[in-house]
Amino acid sequence: MDTDLIKVVNKLQDTFHNLGGELDMPQLAVVGSQSAGKSSVLENIVGRDFLPRGQGIVTRRPLILQLIHTPAPEDPNAPTEWGQFLHLDKRFTDFNDIRKEIEQETFRVAGQNKGISKLPISLRIYSPNVLDLTLVDLPGLTKVPVGDQPSDIERQIRNLVLDYITKPNCVILAVSPANVDLANSEALKLARNIDPQGRRTIGVLTKLDLMDAGTNALDVLTGRVYPLKLGFIGVVNRSQLDITSEKRMSDALESEREFFQNHSAYRNIAHKNGTKYLAKTLNQVLMNHIRDKMPDMKARLNTLMGQAQQELNSFGDAAIFGDQNQQGALILRLMTQFARDFVSSIDGTSHSIS
Ligand code: GDP
Ligand code: NA
Ligand code: MG
Repeated sequence: MDTDLIKVVNKLQDTFHNLGGELDMPQLAVVGSQSAGKSSVLENIVGRDFLPRGQGIVTRRPLILQLIHTPAPEDPNAPTEWGQFLHLDKRFTDFNDIRKEIEQETFRVAGQNKGISKLPISLRIYSPNVLDLTLVDLPGLTKVPVGDQPSDIERQIRNLVLDYITKPNCVILAVSPANVDLANSEALKLARNIDPQGRRTIGVLTKLDLMDAGTNALDVLTGRVYPLKLGFIGVVNRSQLDITSEKRMSDALESEREFFQNHSAYRNIAHKNGTKYLAKTLNQVLMNHIRDKMPDMKARLNTLMGQAQQELNSFGDAAIFGDQNQQGALILRLMTQFARDFVSSIDGTSHSIS
């Protein structure tokens, strides 16, 4: 199954991380100008309220968000969804507490006064209601320094964003607000530099509800204005008033659905827009991406397996019986086994997903 495949990939990433290595796995990153709606889009994809959002500069450190699909527990009293940070040994079942922890961690490292830090916050969300995805929330592209920001803030944020989106296996969610001319979209400008053919860029058009009366974005959404292979998807996120009045996400998704259904310009393309369709598209893109990377990943794993085996052999009997090397040998054995399982799981699934 496809979801199993992605789970194996997530597991592999963890294993490499624990062993001090890094495997260049696909990720989705949001790019766009400040307050374009990047954090709102991510939050909607996850389907829970947990990200700091709002006017002005709110996201000031990268947030690496790993969504992990978990079956609903049989015990009705057990939590079905929870979050876990890398920097803190604690399970968060209240998503408001997750938001507070992100805010505190942001303050702790990036200061109180609008500063930016490259140091990411890592968060995992376990839930039966998510698709398996790794998402990265990033500070918005900006021009003018404010607060404690250095004079070269524009360049610094740009470089920070580039750190993520230049990786060839990063899928770029280029978020542009529909109430600003697309020609001025910072997201599309940056994405075009990195991905000139638009092969791994998805255009996300936010704030469709805020366009001037009598105007619409039908041309953009149907790909007639700006060419992107993966296309543009329109969304309507919660407004600042919705946030302040704590409008529920389920209500917001329903309002969004109604917006597209009832809008004379969008009715016919309603099924290809909205948050739900975006999440579905993302999962598909991610799976295609992993499939494309498979031959390369297999080769790298085979090399690693060979190295591990060689090292294991060099330990000889001491590896198995000696106290001193026991731990190292055990890790190597587990790793070799894991890599073997992984390769066979690829062999088993690579045909079914093509
Ligand atoms: P970010 O800075 O790009 O992460 O943007 P946020 O997600 O923090 O949103 C910035 C502001 O824009 C917040 O006040 C949101 O409520 C508002 N906003 C985002 N998307 C939409 C949308 O589709 N429609 C409306 N009306 N407001 C939105
Ligand atoms: Na903002
Ligand atoms: Mg944000």
